[in-house]
Amino acid sequence: MSAEAKPAVVIARVLLAAGAEPLEERYELRQGGLDATRERLLELVPGASAVVADASVPIDAEVLDAAGESLRVVANFAVGHDNVDLNACRERDVVVTNTPGVLTEATAELALALTLAAARRLSDAERDLRAGRWQGWDPGAYRGLELRGASVGVVGLGRIGRRYAELAGAIGAELLYAGPSAKPEDERELGARRLELDQLLEAADVVSLHAPSRPETRHLIGAEELQRIGPAGVLVNTSRGPLVDEAALAAALRGGTLGAAGLDVYEGEPSVSPALLGAPRAVLLPHIGSATVTSRDAMARLVAENVIAVLEGGEPPSRVV
Ligand code: GLV
Repeated sequence: MSAEAKPAVVIARVLLAAGAEPLEERYELRQGGLDATRERLLELVPGASAVVADASVPIDAEVLDAAGESLRVVANFAVGHDNVDLNACRERDVVVTNTPGVLTEATAELALALTLAAARRLSDAERDLRAGRWQGWDPGAYRGLELRGASVGVVGLGRIGRRYAELAGAIGAELLYAGPSAKPEDERELGARRLELDQLLEAADVVSLHAPSRPETRHLIGAEELQRIGPAGVLVNTSRGPLVDEAALAAALRGGTLGAAGLDVYEGEPSVSPALLGAPRAVLLPHIGSATVTSRDAMARLVAENVIAVLEGGEPPSRVV
């Protein structure tokens, strides 16, 4: 590297101006674009000091080795980091960062929106209206679940799960939670009760998933678990698609053994199985949990702060590894 050469930062796909501008002032930016392929990423990374990825970009040993010894940090534009091979990064002394905190409100609010939309059959009702199938007011049509007095089961009482619980509690839901550890303070503050997952699935009218995607959480909700939630129950997933067996979910909706589902994430994004697309009583969104102006700008800024901190030799604000 010549004396004046700037470190290269690869943005695997895109980064909003709030994050790209501070990086551009300091470094050479190489951007893949929204439709960047894996091959394009492998072309861009050699000699890079930092790679900015998002949940749709796998960062594994091949990418790290293609980048080479110059690589210091992988900055994920997401709180989840299941797309990054953390061990491969550790082995190569590459720091990994994410964007926790700044998307809590946006994602919890979207989970609440999906809860209400699924519980009240909003997608089916709107589709019927738009297709000219609305024949007039019908006291028996689209009857759903009222959240006040319903029991809402939160799977994973982390930042987002806790905020979602608070919002559902404010509407008057009774709160249950399941998770690897007891949270006595949250239990007190929220009035939430901890149950084993299977008990929670039986007891809750609404089950909302807020757990990370890991080998041990893959298909946490499969056919049996859906049956426990039951024909009047609602499943909401704003965490990661692999937590739910999508084929089993589509079958449960079609067979009427699950009441309704509200999903923002899928097993094979961006593709969604035709069975799920055609299933009734499902509200399906394209992974927009953190998509508010406030949240996405804050995420982009945090990505830049993480990259700059590592490249300037400091401690990044949100380090994973
Ligand atoms: C988005 O999916 C995130 O993990 O932030």
